[in-house]
Amino acid sequence: MTHSFDKDYWEQHWDEAPETAPSAPAENRANPYVQRIARRLSPGTALDAGCGTGAEARELAARGWNVLGADISSTALAAAAAQTSEQDLAGTVTWREADLASWEPGRRFDLVMTNYAHPAMPQLEFYRRIMNWVAPGGTLLIVGHAHDPEARTAHGHQPPAEATVTAADVAALLDPAEWTILSADTQSRTVTAPDGRTVTLPDVVVLATRRS
Ligand SMILES: C[S@@+](CC[C@H](N)C(=O)[O-])C[C@H]1O[C@@H](n2cnc3c(N)ncnc32)[C@H](O)[C@@H]1O
Repeated sequence: MTHSFDKDYWEQHWDEAPETAPSAPAENRANPYVQRIARRLSPGTALDAGCGTGAEARELAARGWNVLGADISSTALAAAAAQTSEQDLAGTVTWREADLASWEPGRRFDLVMTNYAHPAMPQLEFYRRIMNWVAPGGTLLIVGHAHDPEARTAHGHQPPAEATVTAADVAALLDPAEWTILSADTQSRTVTAPDGRTVTLPDVVVLATRRS
């Protein structure tokens, strides 16, 4: 099946997602890769590119970061804002409706991260675009669906091939003159899908710092 991954697709996705229901648990957990770097890095400014309902952005803001959560879906951002209003954050989080295929933030960030975002543009081009927004000395975290027949989304679906990547392909985007790759591999984690099934997600996780 082909997917358009345009704004209408994502608005419909979030319209039907349990995470956006008024009764959705506000503690809606950040993924473990973001939890790990949030423990290691000192707070600064961050962009969460394709933040969805914002669990990862809130995790950083809870630890004192000033986070901009950008997403194409107003439905997801409304749920993100509603869940944030119930939390006491040491930092700040701002939600911004934006099409990251064309939007320019006009600034750089100490951390740019993206977690499973797949827009209506080639996946690697999307990563190449957002990595330009990392400030010198800053960090890039890319979490994506692995190119693997066993790959699943947190909803238990198989992601379409065009939304999957390999760690090697993502690492190859990073010019060694400019970037230090701290890790680039496939990791897996288990989640409980909305229907109660336990699902294993093989994820590509790339962590790098920008020298200049
Ligand atoms: C699979 S969801 C992941 C959401 C969240 N990052 C997470 O890990 O749960 C992908 C997100 O990317 C967003 N997205 C897709 N295309 C986008 C675009 N062109 N600009 C901004 N956000 C986009 C979608 O609206 C959706 O919230």
